Amino acid sequence: MDAHFCKTGTIEKLVNSIEQPFVYSARECDRLEAYVRDVINLGSVGCYQHHSIDRTLLRTKYFFGERYTYGAQMSEKRLGLERLYPSNLIEPIPLWIYLYIINPLISANVIEANFVNSAVINEYLPGGCIVSHIDPPHIFDRPIISISLFSDCAMCFGCKFEYKPIRCSEPILRLPLPRGVVTLLSGFAANEITHCIRPEDTTFYRAVILLRRVLPNAPRLSHLSTLLDANNVNLVAASKFKLDNDKTTEGVLKKFCDKYSKVRKGKRGNYGGIMKVHTRKTYFADNKQYANKAYSISE
Ligand code: OGA
Ligand code: MN
Repeated sequence: MDAHFCKTGTIEKLVNSIEQPFVYSARECDRLEAYVRDVINLGSVGCYQHHSIDRTLLRTKYFFGERYTYGAQMSEKRLGLERLYPSNLIEPIPLWIYLYIINPLISANVIEANFVNSAVINEYLPGGCIVSHIDPPHIFDRPIISISLFSDCAMCFGCKFEYKPIRCSEPILRLPLPRGVVTLLSGFAANEITHCIRPEDTTFYRAVILLRRVLPNAPRLSHLSTLLDANNVNLVAASKFKLDNDKTTEGVLKKFCDKYSKVRKGKRGNYGGIMKVHTRKTYFADNKQYANKAYSISE
């Protein structure tokens, strides 16, 4: 009885903090979908800056205006550690998003003018998913706005995920996302409970456009940190130094070492900073200099 009572209270708080207006006609949805296809084509022929696209097996993200670190890119997956990328590494929001998505939302009194400064397109292949999460509140203002396209789907709240094989507990609420619907999460739905897209709810090809406002004081990575990837960190040399989580900001360099030293084990020479990458000899600089300020965060 208590559990049931508690669950209905949660559902009430959820439905009171979610809005789902229909703003776009079927023809307007067709047009938005044509533009999304354009973005995907431009991405596939290399028109966007490297950091504007994040590809995984069943889900690709296209970032416009802003991008932040999440999931696999982070040394520790705790809410609060997410950081914005330097903004000049990310493509600006395309004009069509202003004209055909944002402006109609302003005219329909769904959002305020000048609210949106970040747009992300998620493209899902059938079976694609996004695990339970809260959009980081120190990065994004509320509401979180999304426009669901191409096929009907559903967003679930309060699921726990398990992996290998991926599976998901029963949701507290399964919110239908019919094609074209605008979904706004604020208050309880955005902050107090996780949301996800389950693989079983992505039956067909689907895309979503997320419109958010990045807060002016949200923490941002320095350029240096975005340069520290597998091609630039001399793991052979770096592993000679005892890397300490407290000393390297957020232990990021240590994470790089852990991750890429496995990948590179087979390719590594005996000692020192010379490795063969493809057929070219690559000489690595002494990266001791990075040990103390690997991920310097500009406030
Ligand atoms: C997200 C998200 C929901 C969706 O990318 O943060 O919650 O509808 N996406 O795909
Ligand atoms: Mn989300």
